[in-house]
Amino acid sequence: MTRPRFTNKIVLFLVASAIALLATYLFWSLAPDVKALLEHRMGTKPAPSADTIVSAIKLLLVGIVGYLFVRALNSIFFALAFWLKRIDAPTLIRNIFTIVAFTILFLIAFTFLFPDVNLGALFTTSAIFGVILGLALQDTLGNFFAGISLQADRPFQVGDVITVGAQRHTGVVEEISWRAIKIRTFQNHVVLIANSNAAREPIEVCPRDNLNARIVFFNTLYTDSPAKTIHVVREAVREADNVSEKVAPIVRIKNLGDNGVDYEVKYWLEDYAKYNDTDALVRQRIWYAFRRAGLNFAYPTRTLFLERQQGAQMRNGRDGGAIAERLSAVDIFAPLSADETTMLAQAAVSHVFAPGETVIRAGEPGSSMFVVHKGKVRVQVSENGRPRTVATLNEGDFFGEMALFTGEPRTANVLALEETEVLEIGHAAMKRVFDTNPDLVESLSFIMAERRVGLVSQADSADTARDASAGILRAIKRFFGLSQ
Ligand code: CMP
Repeated sequence: MTRPRFTNKIVLFLVASAIALLATYLFWSLAPDVKALLEHRMGTKPAPSADTIVSAIKLLLVGIVGYLFVRALNSIFFALAFWLKRIDAPTLIRNIFTIVAFTILFLIAFTFLFPDVNLGALFTTSAIFGVILGLALQDTLGNFFAGISLQADRPFQVGDVITVGAQRHTGVVEEISWRAIKIRTFQNHVVLIANSNAAREPIEVCPRDNLNARIVFFNTLYTDSPAKTIHVVREAVREADNVSEKVAPIVRIKNLGDNGVDYEVKYWLEDYAKYNDTDALVRQRIWYAFRRAGLNFAYPTRTLFLERQQGAQMRNGRDGGAIAERLSAVDIFAPLSADETTMLAQAAVSHVFAPGETVIRAGEPGSSMFVVHKGKVRVQVSENGRPRTVATLNEGDFFGEMALFTGEPRTANVLALEETEVLEIGHAAMKRVFDTNPDLVESLSFIMAERRVGLVSQADSADTARDASAGILRAIKRFFGLSQ
C-alpha cells in the first residue's frame, strides 16, 4: 500500500520538475523574442515595460523550479538525518526548512532579475505593505509561532493521547505542523486544532511512555463482603490485557449508595491509546469474577425485612448449625453436651471485622469472650511504646476470656488480620455453662495462666503458669459466684 504511493509521488515529482525545467529553459531561450514582440505590441506605453514583464515571468518560473528543488533538498536532507542519526524531524521543522530555503532562493533570484529594485528599502519604507501583510498573516503567524513554542516546550509528542479545546477533543497526536495539531479520535476521525488555539487552551496529556491510570466503577449488594469483593476484583483486573503488571490495581469503596456499595477500581495501562477497549475488558472480567465468587451487582431494589426474622438472625448469626459446629470444635467447650452447645450457639452473636480492624482494645472493660469463626486475628501488647505480637489465633481459637472471667480490663489488643467473623459469647451464657460444668473453670484457668505468661515481657516470665493458674481459678470462681 505505502510503496506504490511513494513511487507515484516520486514519478509525479520528476514529471513536474521536468516540465518546469523545460518551460524555464524554453522561456529563457525565447526571452529576447518575447521581449521584442511585447515592445512591438505595447509601443511606447509607460510601465510595466516589456523588460519587467519578461523578468516577472522568469521569476515565476525560477520560483517554481526553486520550490521543487527545495522540496527535493528537504527530503534528501531529512532522510539522511534519519538514516545517519535516527532523527525523525517533526513536520514543523521540515516546513520551516522549506520556507527559509525557498525565501533565500527567491530573494537571490529577485535581486538577480530586478537589480534596480532595493528590497530592503521596499520592505522598510512601505508601511501600507507592512500593514496589509501583517493583517493577512495574523492568524498564520500566530499559528506558526505557537507551533514553534509547542516544538520547543514539547509538552506532548506524536503518539501521546491528548484532550484539548473547549469541545474536549480526545485522540492520539499524529502530527504537529506549522499550522495545527492533528489528532485521530477514537472514532477514527481526524481533528485539526490550530496551534494558536491549543496554546490558549488547557491540554490534558497522557504521554505514550508513561503509566497512565484509568478508573472504572462498579457496585455490589450490601450483603457482599468488601474484603472479598476487593480481593476478587483486584485479581481479576490485574490479569486483563494491557493492564500494567508494574502497579497492582487499587480497588476501593467509593460510596455507600442507595442500591448498594459503590466501588472504583483504578488500574494502570501499558498503552493508554487503547483505554476504551481496556475499560470494557476490565468490566467484563469483573462480571465473570463476580459470577465465580458468588458476588452480586446492585441494581435499584427495595428490600422488605420482617422485624421478627431480623431479630432471630441477629441472635443466631447467619447459620445456627454452623455456629454450633464451630463451638463444639473449640477445645474448652469439648466437655459440653449437644444441648449446652446449642444453647451457647443461640446466645452467640456474630460480628464481621475488616482486615486491620480492632476487635478488642487493651485497657477497656469487657464482659464477653469471642471465638474465631472465620479468618484470623493477632493478639498484640504494647512494649516500650511498640506493638509486640503475642499470638496469632485462627478459626476455632478463642480470646477475650480474661476480662470476661476475672472482671479485669482487657489485657491486649486483638486485631483482625483478614476479613474475620467472630462469635461473641456473653457473661450470662458462660455462667450457665459453668454452673453445669464446674471442670471447665479449671481447664480455662490453666489456659489463661499460660497466656498470662506470654503477655509479660521475656525477662519477667519466670513466673510459672501453674502458680498463676491457682490464683486465676479462685478469681473466676469468685467473679462468677461459684463455690470455691
Ligand atoms: P482479654 O484480656 O479479655 O482481652 C485480650 C485477649 O487477648 C485476652 O483476653 C486473651 O484472650 C488474649 N490473649 C492475651 N494473651 C494471650 C496469649 N499469650 N496467647 C493468646 N491469647 C492471648
